[in-house]
Amino acid sequence: MKSIFILLVLSIAGITISAFNFSNKTNTMLNETFEVPENINAIFDKSCIMCHNKESKNEKSRGKLMIDGLSELTKSQQISKLSKISKVVKKGEMPPEKFLAKYPEKALSDAEKKSLIDWSKNYAKELAK
Ligand code: HEC
Repeated sequence: MKSIFILLVLSIAGITISAFNFSNKTNTMLNETFEVPENINAIFDKSCIMCHNKESKNEKSRGKLMIDGLSELTKSQQISKLSKISKVVKKGEMPPEKFLAKYPEKALSDAEKKSLIDWSKNYAKELAK
């Protein structure tokens, strides 16, 4: 009787541990299928990538967002980056004002802003499904 009880406790512990491992794994799995459509890539290339790339000398911008490293993140990290992108573009915080004073041709047009906001919002929603 006692041994059956011990067996039961052990198997419940085993199930709990493997369930925990499984959820942990899905949380830390990189979502390499992350894809940026061509029109969005063109916007990033024109106005964002120079500061937000893996080799950027600007530690601050690199630390916040590496556009060329988005596929090396987990889904939840990607969702978070996407919602930040839509937020800063909507507020007109990016590209930074100082940068635009020097390179006014890098400013986003209204249509580009809309495309970037729509894409980042919709893609975040899709990934969250
Ligand atoms: C001239 C360099 C530069 C350019 C160009 C630039 N950024 Fe940034 N970006 C920064 C810096 C610096 C920060 C960090 C600001 C801080 O920490 O206060 C930042 C922060 C961010 C963040 C993080 C905001 C947060 O709250 O975590 C996002 C998202 C972002 N930028 C998106 C963009 C997008 C999208 C573009 C293009 C439309 C862009 N940036 C263009 C320099 C740049």
